[in-house]
Amino acid sequence: MKEGAKISTIPTRDDGIPTRRDVLMAGLGGLGLAALGLGGLASKQLVAQPLVYDLPAPPAVALAPTPACVDQPATDPSEEGPFYAPNTPLKTDFRRPGHRGRELVLRGRVLDVRCRPIPGAVIDLWQTDEDALYDNVDYGYRGHQFTGPGGEFEVTTVFPKGYLILGMVRSPHIHVKAQGARTRLLTTQIYFPEDAESHARDLLFNPRLVAELRQTASGPPVAIFDFVLEDA
Ligand SMILES: [Fe+2]
Repeated sequence: MKEGAKISTIPTRDDGIPTRRDVLMAGLGGLGLAALGLGGLASKQLVAQPLVYDLPAPPAVALAPTPACVDQPATDPSEEGPFYAPNTPLKTDFRRPGHRGRELVLRGRVLDVRCRPIPGAVIDLWQTDEDALYDNVDYGYRGHQFTGPGGEFEVTTVFPKGYLILGMVRSPHIHVKAQGARTRLLTTQIYFPEDAESHARDLLFNPRLVAELRQTASGPPVAIFDFVLEDA
């Protein structure tokens, strides 16, 4: 039922897979990006379109800025990629019963550029499973939620697996769309600090989109990432 035949897990360099440099030198990077609908990657401005989910009405009075923060840059956008599916279920636990993945909690907040939390923002996430497959049929490892009163969100999942698509290495990542009632839509991807080797081979990798990873004594590791959204 899963749609993933076109992608595979990332082999090691010893498997003869081209490195980032090899891909660039061979001119295949542009070809792969074009085939993914990612042409003009370096210069294209992502077009913000509203998510289809009904956002709760924003509070009448904006929340106070986070202490010690004045202004902050908006989170960098990144490509949507070919595996986005609209109308995902409301879900905060992506784990399939009996999964073989390494469990992970992803949490953070959604803020505006003046460091104010955005309650009721929608966070829509999608990722590969432990076999590096996207499920575009049964909404496995994808879902949306709304941020709490302090702009917080949390999802329990497994670490995504990286993959190879059209000769292009993708380091493990989680795709994200986020939007508040008064903000532009952000489409981006977040990465994990332990995947440095594949980061170096991923043409889309952005070091500003790496989550902080904290180990816990008894539970799964916690990846932390705050999303900062531009005003509408
Ligand atoms: Fe992806």
